[in-house]
Amino acid sequence: MKSGRLLHLKHPFWCPPSLGKAACSRLVLGIETSCDDTGAAVLDETGQILGESLHSQKEVHLRTGGIIPTVAQQLHREHIERVVQQALERSGVEPSRLAAVATTVKPGLALSLAVGLRFSQTFARQHNKSFIPIHHMEAHALTVRMLQPVAFPFLVLLVSGGHSLLAVARGVDDFLLLGHALDEAPGDTLDKVARRLSLIKHPQCSTLSGGQAIELLAKDGDRMRVPFRTPMGQTYDCCFSFAGLRNQINMLIKKKEAEEGIEQGDLLSCVNDIAASTQHTVASHLAKRTHRAILFCKANGLLPSHSPTLVLSGGVASNQYIRKALTIITDTTGLRLLCPPAKFCTDNGVMIAWNGVERLREGKGILSPDVDVSYEPKAQLGVDLTAEVKAAAIRLPSVRMKIPT
Ligand code: KG4
Ligand code: ZN
Repeated sequence: MKSGRLLHLKHPFWCPPSLGKAACSRLVLGIETSCDDTGAAVLDETGQILGESLHSQKEVHLRTGGIIPTVAQQLHREHIERVVQQALERSGVEPSRLAAVATTVKPGLALSLAVGLRFSQTFARQHNKSFIPIHHMEAHALTVRMLQPVAFPFLVLLVSGGHSLLAVARGVDDFLLLGHALDEAPGDTLDKVARRLSLIKHPQCSTLSGGQAIELLAKDGDRMRVPFRTPMGQTYDCCFSFAGLRNQINMLIKKKEAEEGIEQGDLLSCVNDIAASTQHTVASHLAKRTHRAILFCKANGLLPSHSPTLVLSGGVASNQYIRKALTIITDTTGLRLLCPPAKFCTDNGVMIAWNGVERLREGKGILSPDVDVSYEPKAQLGVDLTAEVKAAAIRLPSVRMKIPT
């Protein structure tokens, strides 16, 4: 009993109850500005969120019809200090108590990354704190481990406004890239289709992102009335392409506008059907590439035989229809599908702080505050295996994608 208590005292997370957990655990401040969200959060080493704050630029970019990098940069500049202050205040943690500052430095919009990096390095130097540069996609991939125990290796599908990739996560900084976007990312496609359909004028959609608007409208649509071809049917790899799909959709919209005798900018009567078909085709493309990635992993022993896992994350992963499409694939192949709640799928400071915690625990990529760090707008995640995947040319068995809406 006595030795048990002694062991307990030695546990790194043990704290006198009067002080609370934050008093003993190493604390990380995470800062995210890679795109259009200014986020900050303070986490302890167990992944407990002590305080967070998020400023979204979504409404501004919805009004201007897309992200204008100079506008995004200006908004990050205006909000970063307040957002970081708020996260610290909400956590009740003084900067002196932090173990490190973790910040997204790649990939992302150059002008946006620059704001977060400059602020963070100044802050880290001022308070003499370690600095942990973070890869935005690594952070999306690892977020799930903050919420539940998920052992490496696992397969991850990350789908957002800026990215689409399939990778095997083998360790905190050890990824095998199986597939990536060849042109635009699925969230970008959904945002552009929503803009082309002028969904901002739709009474139910005026404040929603493109992806959210399409998901909502698709519920009352019939995809069979305006079917689209699933991209890359004859390419047996795990890469993604959405530009051709967008072209198909644009041509259909033009035809429907002519049929209905309306101008571009007016709402079509068949927006629900177009939304349903768009969503289905995106889901089906993601599902097929993921199915092939799973078969590639199985053929090469890249996933454990016990409880192999697919993690789905990124902004587009909050789409319930897409989650259901992937459930069909994981059910067919015997994987377990994990998907963080929507709040943790989209960009935020918490996922960056968590990535900082994971790196701090393993002592990986921890820099002293005086080291100069550069941001990188483009940055691959892990070792590129896309050529090997293509060479394997795995044919998919047919799977019925009957997805309830
Ligand atoms: O990860 P995220 O917050 O930011 C980055 O792009 O990194 O993702 C934002 C993207 C947008 O393109 C948005 O349209 C899409 O995620 N999105 C959705 C949904 N909610 C957000 N796409 C489909 N269905 C949704 N429910
Ligand atoms: Zn993201």
